[in-house]
Amino acid sequence: MNRFMVFAVIALVFAAQASMANDKAKLMARGQQVYTEYCKTCHQANGQGLGAVYPPLAKSDYLKNTPMPQIIKEIVNGKSGKIKVNGKEYNGVMAPLPKKYTDEDIASVVTYVYNSFGNSGPIVTVADVKKHKKK
Ligand code: HEC
Repeated sequence: MNRFMVFAVIALVFAAQASMANDKAKLMARGQQVYTEYCKTCHQANGQGLGAVYPPLAKSDYLKNTPMPQIIKEIVNGKSGKIKVNGKEYNGVMAPLPKKYTDEDIASVVTYVYNSFGNSGPIVTVADVKKHKKK
């Protein structure tokens, strides 16, 4: 490899990293909008949940320990039945996500929840959503 090629490779790596950071910032910004508009009613502004019915998303061990494909499915298609979150049992109903939300909205809001409220999870892409959202 000559010097120019080495330089070109380094430049490409930086560009790829910058574009990933950019994608994440975009997903987080849109995710916050979707969260505020929709999820917040139940899970509350700081993801702390509400009473005995709405489980917390903040530092949720359920969110952390459940594989991402299933989290996508549950958020899109709804979820009911007994679950345990941070040691507390819940048995409620989360309705399916309204159809007006696009795959990009879904990728954004799941990324947002995974990376807010003290959580540190993956970045969810539109491709992940397309692949896993079906029941
Ligand atoms: C109408 C109220 C409501 C809305 C709106 C709602 N949820 Fe939920 N959510 C629930 C309930 C109730 C459960 C627990 C269901 C059960 O008991 O099986 C739940 C469970 C969850 C869980 C798994 C449990 C946990 O706490 O980790 C996640 C993750 C989640 N919701 C994310 C979201 C996201 C993201 C949105 C917005 C796109 C959203 N929810 C909108 C009521 C809601």
